[in-house]
Amino acid sequence: MKNKNTFYVTTPIYYPSAEPHIGTAYTTIAGDILSRWNTLLGKEVFFLAGTDEHGKKMEESAERARQSPKTFADHLTLKFKETWKLLNINYNRFIRTTDKDHEQVVQTILSEVHKKGDIYEGYYEGFYCTACESYYTEKDLKEGCCPIHEVKIEKLKEESYFFKLSKYQKKLLKFYKDNPDFISPESRKKEIINRVKEGLQDLSISRSSFSWGIPLPFDKKHVSWVWFDALPNYLTGIGYLENSKQFKKFWPADIQILGKDILWFHAVIWPAILFSLGLETPKKLFAHGWLTIKGAKIGKSAGNAVGINNLVEKTSVDSLRYVLFRETPFGQDGEFSESVFIDRHNNELADKLGNLVSRVSTLAEMYGLQKTTPIKSDKTVKAVNNYLENLEFDKALNEIFSFIDQLNEYIQNKKPWETKDKKVLYQLSNGIKDVSILLSPFIPRTAEKISKTFNFDISLESLKNPLKVSKIKKSEILFRKIDKSPSPIDDMPKQKAQKSEVKTKHQETKQITTIAPEKPTKENSPKVSYDDFSKLDLKIGKILSVKNHPNADKLYVLEVDLGNNDKRTIVAGLRNHYQPEQLQGKKAVFITNLAPATLRGVESNGMLLAAVNDDDSHVTILTPDEDISEGSKIR
Ligand code: MSP
Repeated sequence: MKNKNTFYVTTPIYYPSAEPHIGTAYTTIAGDILSRWNTLLGKEVFFLAGTDEHGKKMEESAERARQSPKTFADHLTLKFKETWKLLNINYNRFIRTTDKDHEQVVQTILSEVHKKGDIYEGYYEGFYCTACESYYTEKDLKEGCCPIHEVKIEKLKEESYFFKLSKYQKKLLKFYKDNPDFISPESRKKEIINRVKEGLQDLSISRSSFSWGIPLPFDKKHVSWVWFDALPNYLTGIGYLENSKQFKKFWPADIQILGKDILWFHAVIWPAILFSLGLETPKKLFAHGWLTIKGAKIGKSAGNAVGINNLVEKTSVDSLRYVLFRETPFGQDGEFSESVFIDRHNNELADKLGNLVSRVSTLAEMYGLQKTTPIKSDKTVKAVNNYLENLEFDKALNEIFSFIDQLNEYIQNKKPWETKDKKVLYQLSNGIKDVSILLSPFIPRTAEKISKTFNFDISLESLKNPLKVSKIKKSEILFRKIDKSPSPIDDMPKQKAQKSEVKTKHQETKQITTIAPEKPTKENSPKVSYDDFSKLDLKIGKILSVKNHPNADKLYVLEVDLGNNDKRTIVAGLRNHYQPEQLQGKKAVFITNLAPATLRGVESNGMLLAAVNDDDSHVTILTPDEDISEGSKIR
């Protein structure tokens, strides 16, 4: 019996017939989250990922690309590896079904099952969907088409070997009954059991009409049906034939994650093969739902694949890892929308988590920390642990973010920027430690950065123990907000709404309504005389206080001292770019003779000047190179 302190998690091995997309990334990130979480819990983890390279589908895709199947698979498998690296997927092995040890495992298994009398020779006549690599009966078809891919399906007639699946019907039904946790979610389990109750047909497990596969050891004219080759990867991955010590340590798998499309193969055919081999079955299968766009499954063949690189460039790897699991329960289908994606990146990662870390670290650098009783996180930790055990990622994240909300309320109420209370700053820092450790399986890079700022380890020990007091340096910005509107300093005065063609980093050119003026270019920028320029009264002002605008979440209301007893209220669109404490006390350049303008109910008597980069993602105020008194003129 396997040691309880190990954890073996697998994902399906994908067909490298096209590049990975967010659908395949979804399952793989889920595997990585579980792997990281269980490592954190102190278990010895094995996480297996890989590619499924044989079969008709791969052979045909390679033909279309005018390459040999192996060259074609080599190229795309590399893409999978690169993408998983980009997404910070920490697998222990990447298995390819073309790996030598795997070919040996499949042949050994085929021989054993054959010897046992569970394989016999016959003749197959029926329907085969190459996209599914699956057999269908006439009644499964939808108007002559594959029920999943909705493409015309080919009728096959060839010599074949069969696996006696029907023999295992009763054993399977008893097994499901005795192991109620084997298939999750519950609704899918019922579907499987009902189908098995209807009866099982023996399975054609070899093909003789093409050659891209593993030859049957007892009849070299045949190659193994791709699923009989693919499923045993879960055994090869941990050293079934070559490393029996490791195999014993990790088998049976603790959790096998897969999409609902391939549950039948994993919940029926896979345990039957294992029964025949006399091996234990995996402890749990979890069939998650599909990521969809406008209701259609995301996938290369459906033509709506969302580029992973593109998404990650716009936001961050951690944003993708987080958002995919934030909303939809893992077992259900979830609609993917770039707009929701950016909203969550902005509102949750940048605003809630990023701001908290930025504010607390800035203040901790200024005032230091003093040890006191921490804010308790035990309930959150316990709940997160339970949710992750059941793959309820959305609930786990919800729980963690409630705790972050609690910390944000605490800082608002305690106002440490006014009180300079080192104990409050300690409590907040300790809370940040706890949420970062809990979030680390989801957003490992960010958690790592936060741990460096506040000087703690990402470990169970450090989750249990209070934060050590240390010298803290202000954190770098963790998540840059993406502006969905064309200008980050919209809501600024004197700009009339106009229709224009605007291209932003994350939008295709389209008609949008903007309140920003057309950007000046070298060509269209009007020339002004010195007289024009001298009409502007530009001065150095000192920012005395910074408050959030009551009605606009991008604006601050500043109290500014412009010298000579001229104190004014000036509204500035800097909230996405600065924390209040980063502005307070700073000197900057202001236009002081603009006509007053009321911005969302607050009168602004002037304008702060800032530098803005090309795509509006970076905004910085203009401060004098050396200290100079407020009221100094800019010439
Ligand atoms: N090669 C087989 C699996 C063999 S496992 C022993 C296969 N490959 S596949 O490339 O078609 O991958 C299917 C899997 O990709 C799904 O089960 C799921 O894990 C993942 N997904 C593909 N598209 C997806 C979505 N749109 N949404 C969620 N998961 C998706 O089947």
